Amino acid sequence: MEICGTVERMRAVRAGWKGASVALVPTMGALHRGHLALVEAAHERAERIVASIFVNPTQFGDPADLAAYPREEAADRALLEQAGVDALFLPSVAEMYPPGAETVVETERLAGLYHGAVRPGHFRGVATVVCKLLNIVRPDIALFGEKDYQQLAVIRRMVRDLFIPVEIVGVPTLREADGLAMSSRNRRLGPEDRRAAAVLSRALDRAEALAAEGAPAERLAEAIREVVGAEPRARLCGLDIVDAETFEPVVRTITRRAGIMLSAEVGGVLLLDQREVGPRESAP
Ligand code: PAF
Repeated sequence: MEICGTVERMRAVRAGWKGASVALVPTMGALHRGHLALVEAAHERAERIVASIFVNPTQFGDPADLAAYPREEAADRALLEQAGVDALFLPSVAEMYPPGAETVVETERLAGLYHGAVRPGHFRGVATVVCKLLNIVRPDIALFGEKDYQQLAVIRRMVRDLFIPVEIVGVPTLREADGLAMSSRNRRLGPEDRRAAAVLSRALDRAEALAAEGAPAERLAEAIREVVGAEPRARLCGLDIVDAETFEPVVRTITRRAGIMLSAEVGGVLLLDQREVGPRESAP
């Protein structure tokens, strides 16, 4: 596996793969099986795989959250090497944001909604860094987890609006045995909070079952509030049911695919989960 610390080196390695299809798996490190599922999905679709590890400061509003983000470079490198990644892009902050850098990318409407309303600037940071990564690596495809549902929508919109020649692939969330969505943040949970954290996926299971019975969006939201409310260690932070295509809120009968975005704080750690429900074809 080639380790590329600079944009110049990454570009040189990429240029050596003439004609081969290239996949990019962007990460912030602290890798777990969910990231390896992205690499596996990349192997099925491309001949060469680049993974990036960059804890992007511009997507963290709170400096304490940035400082607390786990960094496990040696273990990450070994995992990626074993997973058959061809090149690891591992830039410094100064490499990605050199002095004088001032250009940002913002999906104006989407970035301010839902999760973005609670974390101002977060999706601008994500869109900016992903745009930079796509321009540096110039992959044919780039893969992202579906768990970060709004992030995936922001990235798809940016790529579409800016005509970036890449296919964005969403990969289903990998879960622990009790349903907890895999996330680098999970390792910050103590044993009691880890147990309690399964409440997010339990609440989504309940909502999914109700949606299958044709219940309206308000009923799904009510059920999620009930399930999360019954877990004293969890505090519901965000609950939005949105049209999968437009991201407009869905309040009544679910007639097309809708995404439920859920966030809750457990033991001081903000956890996200997501589920898509509703008919795949529009109801007549
Ligand atoms: O999902 C993440 O890990 C990050 O938001 C991403 C897409 C790598 C951008 O920093």
